Amino acid sequence: MREDSWGRGYGTAAVRQVIAYAFTATHLDRLSAKHHPDNPAFGRVLAKAGFTHATVFQGQMDGELVAYPVYEIHRTWAGPYRPISR
Ligand SMILES: CC(C)(COP(=O)(O)OP(=O)(O)OC[C@H]1O[C@@H](n2cnc3c(N)ncnc32)[C@H](O)[C@@H]1OP(=O)(O)O)[C@@H](O)C(=O)NCCC(=O)NCCS
Repeated sequence: MREDSWGRGYGTAAVRQVIAYAFTATHLDRLSAKHHPDNPAFGRVLAKAGFTHATVFQGQMDGELVAYPVYEIHRTWAGPYRPISR
């Protein structure tokens, strides 16, 4: 996303649409996502869309060890996905 579009809610809106699609049009029960630790804004986007922090994935980027925060969201069978507002 272009820098001049950040902070307007587009990232959160896009993630919410992915979740709604996954939990209505597919049989997926769980989604997971990770982000680079230098990109905390994406962690905030995931939390606003309803993901919760699950674990840390020890990966690599350009030969460097990187601890990627991993988030998950689970299908709830009580009804359709409704994003929580925070
Ligand atoms: C990360 C990104 C996708 C988020 O998209 P966006 O449209 O800006 O996201 P939103 O506007 O929905 O929400 C951004 C949230 O992050 C928060 N945020 C911004 N910078 C932050 C930081 N350094 N630390 C924590 N939160 C931060 C904003 O305050 C906002 O939360 P709020 O609504 O509670 O105030 C976008 O900023 C981006 O493309 N960044 C650079 C490229 C990138 O890193 N892409 C992802 C690669 S993993």
